Amino acid sequence: MGDPATPPSSELAAMAIVDGASLKHPFSDRVPVRSIVCRPDGGAGLAGNRVRAGGWVKTGREQGKGSFAFLEVNDGSCPANLQVIVDAGVEELSTLVQTGTCVSVEGVLKVPPEGAKQKIELRVERVLHVGPTDPAKYPIPKTKLSLEFLRDHVHLRPRTNTISAVARIRNALAFATHSFFQEHGFLYVHTPIITTSDCEGAGEMFQATTLINEAEKLEKELIENPPPTEADVEAARLTVTQRGEIVAQLKAAKATRDDISASVAELKIAKENLSRLVERAKLKPGIPKKDGKIDYTQDFFARQAFLTVSGQLQVETYACAVTSVYTFGPTFRAENSHTSRHLAEFWMVEPEIAFADLQDDMNCAEAYVKYMCGWLLDKCFDDMELMAKLYDKGCIDRLRMVSSTPFERISYTEAVRLLEEAVKGGKEFEKNVEWGIDLASEHERYLTEDIFKKPVIVYNYPKGIKAFYMRLNDDSKTVAAMDILVPKVGELIGGSQREERYEVIQRRIAEMGLPLEPYEWYLDLRRYGTVKHCGFGLGFERMVLFATGIDNIRDVIPFPRYPGRADL
Ligand code: 4AD
Ligand code: MG
Repeated sequence: MGDPATPPSSELAAMAIVDGASLKHPFSDRVPVRSIVCRPDGGAGLAGNRVRAGGWVKTGREQGKGSFAFLEVNDGSCPANLQVIVDAGVEELSTLVQTGTCVSVEGVLKVPPEGAKQKIELRVERVLHVGPTDPAKYPIPKTKLSLEFLRDHVHLRPRTNTISAVARIRNALAFATHSFFQEHGFLYVHTPIITTSDCEGAGEMFQATTLINEAEKLEKELIENPPPTEADVEAARLTVTQRGEIVAQLKAAKATRDDISASVAELKIAKENLSRLVERAKLKPGIPKKDGKIDYTQDFFARQAFLTVSGQLQVETYACAVTSVYTFGPTFRAENSHTSRHLAEFWMVEPEIAFADLQDDMNCAEAYVKYMCGWLLDKCFDDMELMAKLYDKGCIDRLRMVSSTPFERISYTEAVRLLEEAVKGGKEFEKNVEWGIDLASEHERYLTEDIFKKPVIVYNYPKGIKAFYMRLNDDSKTVAAMDILVPKVGELIGGSQREERYEVIQRRIAEMGLPLEPYEWYLDLRRYGTVKHCGFGLGFERMVLFATGIDNIRDVIPFPRYPGRADL
């Protein structure tokens, strides 16, 4: 798997093809760099082929007293660059060699002279396009840049080795996710991004409202076009009365039909004017209120709405009809966390299985995580090698270990006992350990990194620290919840068997001080044809962190959102 010495049969087949035309991108006239340099022979077998290639110059240098230039060109299709050689007669070399320049070139692939690092290089005969870069201004020079620095340039950072490798790894993990669930007969369900129910009941939601922009618009409009005064309205009312009297007089005097209709028309205009003024006089700047509270009946959805924190509650409706489902989408949490593990917008994978319990849930989650690790070893080995070189030399071994070793499974009570034992043995934690606490990141990492040195599934948590929808155990103290803790990250997955008993879940909602009304539809799933079911949520960025060994979650999502930052 992923070992360049033993190429899979599909790659061997590709090696036999030496016709440049067949390497071409299906929807572009160029050949992706990957199709050239990522072959098991490093591209050597393609020597003699005429190809077009395009990308951005990573490094460039003029050689032979300016008679030709070497360019390292990358198009993001793989971590490796294509070495490109341009003679001075073909193009002005000083522009081409600047880091960040975009080039599209045509030439012939040649095997470089003995001793060169590359297995193949492109001898350019024609330059088709140059997108120049001013080196004095380009924010991403070729020097090594910190990930923190790159966060200030999220629009240009995909051009760096690290961020493009992370993009390919994310892509592979997303593909692996769909592949895993599709292979196991799950249906992909799109749950809403705008929701009116708080899944976790933790009140960490971003509100979706147009009341603020409507209020701003109105405020501006009222300044430009002030509302009528009392006197304006009175005057308009007087006009209506006067016009009404004229109509009455004309009718009494048996005036002509034309005269009467003309004055009736004027009366109508006066009435319309009055009602318009009365309506406008009611306009008040600011957010509409009723009984001292914000009046959400005037909001876009005629009720309060939010960005979802999880698609679970909605996906349960499909699980309780079509049995095996998953949702995979963005979720939003307005928690003011500044940690390297939290984002305000992150992606979550949430399967939900009917006729399945907590054991099944753990089995599914473990198989899914293992599948993703195996997939990366198989499909992204070159990117993983880059991660090992730059960020975490153990990351490939970790993937191997996780994909092949059974996860440890311990109850919460057992986890607390182990942590207490560690404290007795001299281990110091910032947060005190005792039964009932919500395990902190330091505790989770100690369990997975120091005690077991592999992923750990902790199950049966105290009900007081978990959400209302988790199934109450027979001890009435714990719920059938499970978290998967992994080295480097801590909590990767949170899941549970759901409470399917109507009376119990109703009581739990009340106990937690949540209003029943917004959950009535959720209770219907228990009222009508209830079924044992379970599910979990995997934080997709946490999976990328775990796989790559990168330290900060802000560097593994293309456009990070966290308190104070939402660029682009
Ligand atoms: O444990 P959580 O809150 O579980 C749920 O939302 C359930 N409704 C899931 C389900 O059963 N369908 O979140 C699930 C996972 C966590 O384990 C963590 O990996 C990730 O989502 N997560 C975050 N990732 C990044 N930034 C944040 N602020 C996160 N909060 C949770
Ligand atoms: Mg959790």
